[in-house]
Amino acid sequence: MRHRLIPRSPLLLALLLALAVGVISAPPALAQQGDMPGNDRCLLCHTDPELTMVLPSREVLPLNMNPVDLAASVHAELLCSDCHNDKGSGYPHPPFPAANHRDWQVMISQVCGNCHADQALHRQDSMHGRLLAAGRSEAATCIDCHGAHDVAWANWQENPAASPAAQIDACGECHNVITTDFRASVHGVQLIAGNEDVPTCSSCHPAHQIEDPRTAAFRLSAPELCGSCHADTEMMARYGISTHVFDTYVADFHGTTVKIFEATDPEGFTNKAVCHDCHSAHRIMRADSANSTVMQANLLATCQRCHPDADAAFTASWMGHYPPDWEHYPIVTAVDWFYKLLIPGVLGFFVVYIGLDIGRTWIDRSRQRREWRQARRQQRLAASSQDEPQEGGEA
Ligand code: HEC
Ligand code: HEC
Ligand code: HEC
Ligand code: HEC
Ligand code: HEC
Ligand code: HEC
Ligand code: HEC
Ligand code: HEC
Ligand code: HEC
Repeated sequence: MRHRLIPRSPLLLALLLALAVGVISAPPALAQQGDMPGNDRCLLCHTDPELTMVLPSREVLPLNMNPVDLAASVHAELLCSDCHNDKGSGYPHPPFPAANHRDWQVMISQVCGNCHADQALHRQDSMHGRLLAAGRSEAATCIDCHGAHDVAWANWQENPAASPAAQIDACGECHNVITTDFRASVHGVQLIAGNEDVPTCSSCHPAHQIEDPRTAAFRLSAPELCGSCHADTEMMARYGISTHVFDTYVADFHGTTVKIFEATDPEGFTNKAVCHDCHSAHRIMRADSANSTVMQANLLATCQRCHPDADAAFTASWMGHYPPDWEHYPIVTAVDWFYKLLIPGVLGFFVVYIGLDIGRTWIDRSRQRREWRQARRQQRLAASSQDEPQEGGEA
């Protein structure tokens, strides 16, 4: 009955703990790996549900851990002391190193970088990493997103056991409003249903390299971000969504200007509409849904954010993402066809006209030349017949 080793009374506890260390360190089976303590030794005390400690901040930290969590995690093979590397050979422990629980979490999550150096390195330059470095301890540490004892597979592109949907819960712990919006969006609903084509938070904010989304550079890159899927013909064909949304955007007055900006001044802030100005970034709805910001009834309000004087005629002037066709813009298409026929017609007519004219002139000229030559020959004939002596003439 291991857990009975730890009594409820703190005084007795302290006494027995000291004894316990002496007793438990004795059996050689428990003293695994040199002076690295085996997990069992730690668990002798740390499976007691009553074991707690009071931190300098007066917060109460429960000290029982469920070994099943660790055994079921990606870290099943790890020793407690791989992460709790300040615990030496067991008890007594060194003094608690932090003023409060949060500071301790920030401190202890440094240890993850011992084995995951790439992620730790990348993170230093991310939004959360910079905030932590500046003392904003409420920003996300490794363990806020991954957990401590129950770390699960996270790389779903490589590991079928990982779930892309799990991360939105992790982000949602702190970014509650955005995550609630995202869950209701066309992307979020599909993600929760298990569709891996739609974006997760980290598709747009790469988890360990999260940039500030309010910079000019991020804004300029947003159309490419959406375009990475919405210009993918194979993927969009599966949903019957036009990939013209990207090329028509680039071709319209907003997109062209954004492109020019991007090429000439990547740090400059563009006030031209990018995808999320019209669609929103997290609460994106199907274009025909009643809640959509681009649905006909809501479109004017969306445009008016930047074109305050816009009226219904104004929204109608923009043809959305469709290149004109008979179904969506019959009048524009008719005009389009009119010009498509008229221009070749007019040009063709002139080509034929000029061709005929040149031909006529050429024929006329060659006829004239032939007639002239004929006339000359006849003249010459006539002249030579006069010069020749006449047979039996007057002579
Ligand atoms: C004899 C019982 C006992 C054993 C064995 C023991 N602990 Fe503890 N542990 C405690 C008690 C009691 C505390 C409360 C703080 C203190 O007394 O230092 C604690 C606190 C902790 C804490 C939280 C506070 C801190 O200082 O970080 C961690 C983490 C911890 N132990 C991990 C371990 C690990 C890992 C092992 C195995 C190497 C281990 N413990 C072995 C009794 C024990
Ligand atoms: C992958 C690294 C890792 C391993 C392995 C690990 N821990 Fe922890 N442990 C942590 C982190 C990180 C925390 C801080 C969690 C928090 O407070 O949010 C923690 C917290 C604790 C605490 C404080 C109570 C709590 O849950 O916050 C105890 C006790 C503890 N660990 C014991 C153990 C024991 C015993 C083992 C081995 C059976 C072990 N840990 C293995 C990373 C680890
Ligand atoms: C002693 C080394 C070590 C420490 C410390 C450690 N890990 Fe790991 N971690 C591993 C190993 C080994 C794997 C399995 C990797 C593999 O097989 O690709 C792993 C896997 C992972 C995975 C899953 C990777 C994937 O491909 O999906 C995550 C996430 C992770 N660790 C996060 C953490 C976090 C968070 C901490 C700190 C609380 C931590 N690790 C501490 C060694 C460690
Ligand atoms: C803001 C949340 C967040 C933080 C903070 C975070 N991660 Fe991750 N991590 C993720 C997500 C989400 C994934 C899944 C892969 C993806 O979508 O990019 C991931 C993937 C991983 C993987 C699997 C391999 C990979 O790169 O895809 C490891 C290992 C890992 N993280 C370790 C860490 C370590 C170590 C830290 C701290 C230095 C950390 N993570 C901090 C969210 C986070
Ligand atoms: C432990 C809480 C926590 C978790 C978990 C967390 N974040 Fe954050 N995040 C913050 C804090 C705090 C800020 C700074 C907010 C501020 O400056 O007002 C921040 C900032 C950001 C920013 C920069 C924009 C801004 O408002 O400053 C982005 C983008 C972001 N987080 C995305 C994510 C994503 C994506 C995830 C999940 C993979 C995630 N965060 C998980 C706490 C968290
Ligand atoms: C399809 C791409 C995309 C996805 C998916 C996405 N975001 Fe964003 N996110 C953006 C864009 C674009 C902005 C900039 C919005 C703006 O400037 O108005 C942004 C801004 C943010 C900000 C800071 C600005 C703010 O409004 O406070 C945070 C924090 C954030 N996102 C977190 C998240 C979280 C958490 C998730 C997952 C639940 C997520 N994002 C999913 C594209 C995305
Ligand atoms: C990782 C790929 C990916 C990214 C990145 C992405 N989307 Fe999507 N999006 C999809 C998929 C797949 C669907 C189809 C979902 C369905 O119909 O079930 C979709 C659907 C949509 C729809 C609904 C279309 C309809 O049926 O009316 C809109 C609008 C949309 N996305 C806009 C955006 C915007 C704006 C961005 C950038 C902020 C973006 N998407 C980024 C994959 C993506
Ligand atoms: C984020 C702000 C923003 C939003 C939202 C926005 N626009 Fe614009 N739009 C601009 C800016 C800035 C210009 C000026 C472009 C230039 O001068 O190169 C512009 C130019 C135009 C023009 C060219 C004629 C003109 O007035 O200069 C039209 C037409 C237009 N937008 C239509 C729309 C429609 C329709 C909507 C709604 C569906 C919309 N815009 C939403 C910022 C926006
Ligand atoms: C000026 C506002 C505006 C901008 C900027 C904008 N859209 Fe749209 N979007 C609309 C409107 C209005 C509709 C609905 C009418 C239509 O389909 O033309 C729509 C429809 C869509 C659809 C649904 C199309 C379908 O086949 O059902 C998708 C997907 C989409 N947009 C993605 C994007 C992407 C990706 C970008 C950036 C590259 C973007 N939008 C930029 C206003 C905009």
